[in-house]
Amino acid sequence: METLEAIKTRRSIRVFQDKPVEWENILIILDAGRWAPSGLNNQPWKFRILDDAEEKSQVADQTRYSDMLKNAPVSIAVFLDTKESYDRTKDVQAIGACVQNMLLAAHDQGIGACWIGEILKNKEKVNAILRIPEEYELMAVVALGYPAKKDAKADRKKLEELLWN
Ligand SMILES: Cc1cc2nc3c(=O)[nH]c(=O)nc-3n(C[C@H](O)[C@H](O)[C@H](O)COP(=O)(O)O)c2cc1C
Repeated sequence: METLEAIKTRRSIRVFQDKPVEWENILIILDAGRWAPSGLNNQPWKFRILDDAEEKSQVADQTRYSDMLKNAPVSIAVFLDTKESYDRTKDVQAIGACVQNMLLAAHDQGIGACWIGEILKNKEKVNAILRIPEEYELMAVVALGYPAKKDAKADRKKLEELLWN
């Protein structure tokens, strides 16, 4: 898929088919995340794949989007490795680039994805469930799976509204 086409046709997918996502596809998604830009190229991200049903269910209960997470055959938790951090704003921006790369790589492979931020209100609980040390700060959970529904519409502000003259 062409880059601009992928950027414009990607939509958040929140309902998934009961069809597994192959390991090979998950690796492509993680690899795209890994290639995101970061300040000083510090690459402050860490990933945890959530594919165990019990674990996934416990993590899902930490967000009001639990149905989506339980329905997703696999999810990826994305953490900021605070030991690698040199500037919090820039590190969080890099994580955003990383997650966007992952969403686009999923879309490129026909896999739907949704960036779940709402779960961050319970980020400490998620770390405890996953037995992840506190120096890894949860930044997002990305739900993944083959789309069960056609892409939802999502509008954008007009370019004129975003430009100062
Ligand atoms: C930082 C961030 C947090 C988000 N958190 C959630 C979330 O918790 N639940 C959800 O359903 N969508 C979440 N989204 C997805 C947005 O709702 C979605 O990207 C937006 O509505 C535009 O739709 P589109 O992705 O289909 O273009 C999040 C997106 C971002 C960038």
